[in-house]
This record gives sequence, C-alpha cells and structure tokens, in this order.
Amino acid sequence: MEAKSTTHEHLLSVVVTEAARFPEGSTVRVLDAGCGHGDLMTFLNAQLPRLRPGLRFEVRGFEVTDHGRPNDRRLRPDIDCISVRDPWPYADESFDVVVSNQVLEHVGDPSHFFQQLYRVLRTGGFSAHLFPLKHCFWEGHLHLPLAHRIRNRDLLRAYIRLASRFGLGRFGDHFRALGTPLELFAEQHADFILFFTRYLSYRQALDLAQAHQLRGSFRYTGEYYGRVIRKKLFRRAPPYRYNPRRSALADWLAVMFWRHAIGVTLFLEKRNTYEHGTEERVAAALAGPARGAI
Ligand SMILES: C[S@@+](CC[C@H](N)C(=O)[O-])C[C@H]1O[C@@H](n2cnc3c(N)ncnc32)[C@H](O)[C@@H]1O
Repeated sequence: MEAKSTTHEHLLSVVVTEAARFPEGSTVRVLDAGCGHGDLMTFLNAQLPRLRPGLRFEVRGFEVTDHGRPNDRRLRPDIDCISVRDPWPYADESFDVVVSNQVLEHVGDPSHFFQQLYRVLRTGGFSAHLFPLKHCFWEGHLHLPLAHRIRNRDLLRAYIRLASRFGLGRFGDHFRALGTPLELFAEQHADFILFFTRYLSYRQALDLAQAHQLRGSFRYTGEYYGRVIRKKLFRRAPPYRYNPRRSALADWLAVMFWRHAIGVTLFLEKRNTYEHGTEERVAAALAGPARGAI
C-alpha cells in the first residue's frame, strides 16, 4: 500500500525504528492524535505488521469535532470523535506509541494536549509529532511567507489581500474553485491563521515536554528532509528503518537548520531514570561502617 504523503512514510519509519525497544511477541498499541480522515492510521495498519513481523500492532485514532469534522462522511468509522476540551477517551497508560501529523501547529491549548499525551502514554513508550515550528519561513496553509508571524489582525488581513493581488498564495485556487471574492478570502483566512493555528517555538515545544514530565528532543528531523530530497531528486524511496545510532549534535544542527523550512519532528519519551535519594545513598555507602573493613 502506497503512502498518501511523505510525512506518513516518515512517521512510519520513526515507529519502525523505535519499536526495537518493545520485546518480541508483544502487542504495541499506537494512537494517532488528531488523525483527520484516518489515512495515517490505514497506512500504519497496513505497513507495521510487514515491517516489524515480531510484534502485534493495534492502531487507534481520534479526531476533534470542533471544526466540523463529525458530519464528514470521509472519516473512518472507527475514529473516536471528541471536543478539543475533552480528555482523550482512553485509559491511563494505554498506548505504547502516540503519533501526530501536522497537528501541533493547530492545538489551541497545548498544555491540555501534552497532559493527555502523558496520561495515555505507557511508561517506557514514545511519541513522535511532525509539525512546523514558529521559525518556519513559509506558512503552509496560505502558501505565503511569514503569515503566521503577524499577530495584528488588520495587518494580517491587509497582507493577505496585498499578496493575493500580486498572485501569491492560494487566492487564485479559491477563486477558480469557489468564486470567493478577494475581500472575503482575506477576511476568512486572516481568521483561520488567528483562530486555527498556534505555532510553537523550538523552546516552547521543549518547555512543554519538560513541564509534562516527557523527555523532549527533535530526533529524526534530518531524516525527514533526507527522505523528501531522495524521493524528489532521485526518485528513490529510502528504507523504512532509520539509523538507531544517533548523534545528539547532528540532530540539534538538523533542527536548527530545518526549523526554518517546513516541519520538524518532536520526539518524546515517557521515562525517568533518576531516583530521589540516590545522592544520599551514595554518601551513606561511602561513609558507612563497611568502609575500611576487610
Ligand atoms: C492538517 S490536519 C492533519 C490531519 C491528519 N493528522 C493528517 O495527517 O491528515 C490538522 C488536524 O489537527 C486536528 N486538531 C486541531 N486541534 C486539535 C487538538 N486540540 N487536538 C487534537 N487534534 C487537533 C484537526 O482536527 C485536524 O484534523
């Protein structure tokens, strides 16, 4: 089965690579948060058993209904529908893996999202999120540079109107398909950016992870671009397993560079190896009566 998007191939590759942590024969439960029509769920369901035959996979997904999705006939029937304000409809620690594709830039209350993510993720599990950061030059919904950086609503509407007059962005498509007049287009799309996007910075994403007891990094960000370039330039599909041996410096350099392009991969782990009292136990052991005894 073909992927509908390179982002889906990339998230599959991250899951396949990181699934090495799960013991052979175990069942791995995967959640797609903000799954849209469920295309990534369908793709993961088809590919994961083939690429990781030693594991069993169960893939679930939920979508938020606040933006009109519940009446959408293209939604898979097994998708759970909730409001953005609801707790995710799953028990604590019920998933080994959580993924999301192009969702985090739309989440109005990221603290709620991260809190629910921490709650449903099993200790030892991981999570991967592909999305554009605030540093991105290109606003991918409007196809206009830096539109998401303008917080002043009037200025944003004026910018969209002016850019559209010069033939930039998506106005032409909208006009041809729906006959939308320029004024209305600028009005609606300024509201879209203002109310349906909330781009996080590199720092905010890592701070949210830390505040919710998740280990945060941007592991695999470079691999996504490697995949895009290999497919576009060389028409070759890269293998679905990335190199598990990481260089933290190379990963950091990749995100510093690629965060200005389209998307990054936020990689989170629910694990904490530090135990309180360790320092006291070491001090006690070093100073204890056994010291010097034969
Ligand atoms: C660009 S679409 C991506 C859909 C899907 N993940 C895909 O890859 O096709 C953005 C999605 O984010 C979802 N979304 C927005 N706010 C959300 C939230 N607070 N929690 C979960 N999903 C959210 C929207 O409903 C929408 O489906």
